[in-house]
Amino acid sequence: MRMIRKRTRTRAGGAGPRTRRRLRAGLGATTTALLTVTALAALPQTTAHAADTLGAAAAEKGRYFGAAVAANHLGEAQYTATLNREFNSVTPENEMKWDAVEPNRGSFSFSRADQIVNHARSRGMDVRGHTLVWHSQLPGWVSGLGASDLRSAMNNHITEVMTHYKGQIHSWDVVNEAFQDGGSGARRSSPFQDKLGNGFIEEAFRTARAADPAAKLCYNDYNTDGINAKSTAVYTMVRDFKSRGVPIDCVGFQGHFNSNSPVPSDFQANLQRFADLGVDVQITELDIEGSGQAQATNYGNVVRACLAVSRCTGITVWGIPDKYSWRSSGTPLLFDDNYNKKPAYDAVLSALGGTPGDGDPGGPGEPGDPDAACTATYTTAEQWGGGYNGRVTITAGSSPITAWSVDVTLASSQRVISVWNGSPTTNGNVMTVRSTWNGSLAAGASTSFGFTVNGGSTPPPQVGACTAS
Ligand code: XIL
Repeated sequence: MRMIRKRTRTRAGGAGPRTRRRLRAGLGATTTALLTVTALAALPQTTAHAADTLGAAAAEKGRYFGAAVAANHLGEAQYTATLNREFNSVTPENEMKWDAVEPNRGSFSFSRADQIVNHARSRGMDVRGHTLVWHSQLPGWVSGLGASDLRSAMNNHITEVMTHYKGQIHSWDVVNEAFQDGGSGARRSSPFQDKLGNGFIEEAFRTARAADPAAKLCYNDYNTDGINAKSTAVYTMVRDFKSRGVPIDCVGFQGHFNSNSPVPSDFQANLQRFADLGVDVQITELDIEGSGQAQATNYGNVVRACLAVSRCTGITVWGIPDKYSWRSSGTPLLFDDNYNKKPAYDAVLSALGGTPGDGDPGGPGEPGDPDAACTATYTTAEQWGGGYNGRVTITAGSSPITAWSVDVTLASSQRVISVWNGSPTTNGNVMTVRSTWNGSLAAGASTSFGFTVNGGSTPPPQVGACTAS
């Protein structure tokens, strides 16, 4: 069963720290805990606020909104902050492919794929499995096998990989890209096709059903988004499978678009004709080259096409920021290289019924965002007999922020003689430093300010909590 993460405006554990601080002001310590609990119980669990992330907006439409994820980016704070905030499904971009999980016959290595699956599942996200049988990213040993060895290697691969992830995968791309591009409607030449013949696809699906009966089994391909010879060949296969009881639950439409391969005007009609065969349809690898409003319009059209087809169960974009796209020069994704939301993002969120940016006080990165948070860490940059230069690094939490403020408390003998990259106001020995030009930080991003202190190199200053909005 698919888990839908519904974003509520009330964080797990109740009101955010700022609410608690306000509640505590002026109260005796003994009564605070009791009153806080009472106040929390009275807070609504959700608000009428329109969804302001892709995942939450899609969930309100009964869909998922996913991203292809690469394990080697999971250590990057901005990457994971954006992933965790916006998406409720992931597809490992390369980590589940045959060359990654079974580089040598019978020897499986799941660690990088496990990293992604664990990251996703521990946060309630779905996982799409991609992909079991594909001619590409296929290790040389597979192509070298004779027919009967190849058949058992294929079935063993499917069984081992699906068993490892049994019960954890929402949908599997069992067979990927088995049809030839262009107008022939023929099968693509591949070790599987050439040695096992047409029947390899059916065999792969039957083996997959036995390995994990809970997973939806998809056929996935590209240039099948509109009604054309290739998509009709896939359609004919799916119709045949359904009529003969070959297990297939879904068809994935990759959705890689650019000016040579634009979003087709009959995209929705094509999705619908597949859905009418009794399978779910999913947009599995969406990216649309371009920029600005033109790109945004295309993205909006794709989302609207999916929403218009009741069996279109979700959309996955093929990456998060443009810089990590497999086609980065075409800037085909929803976030720019600094994780800023592009016009395409707003178009997708609007099409999903959410409320993007500007009209949305309280949304991510907007004034009043209850999730805005930051941390401040102090280091002494230089030190000499009579003083020191201090540096405070500000890091945004899992939401973007637009402004920050930090209190720095000095010993009474010490005096600040200059501050850079921040705007100070002083009250006794407490200096409050607020952001100037550097208040807008993407989720997980950092900036710093510095100051020079005279009147002794010790003690170091006390840096208070960071406040963000
Ligand atoms: C791409 C990845 O994004 C790249 O990192 C990799 O080098 C090649 O494969 N169709 C698919 C995806 O089904 O697996 C491909 O992903 C893109 C085309």
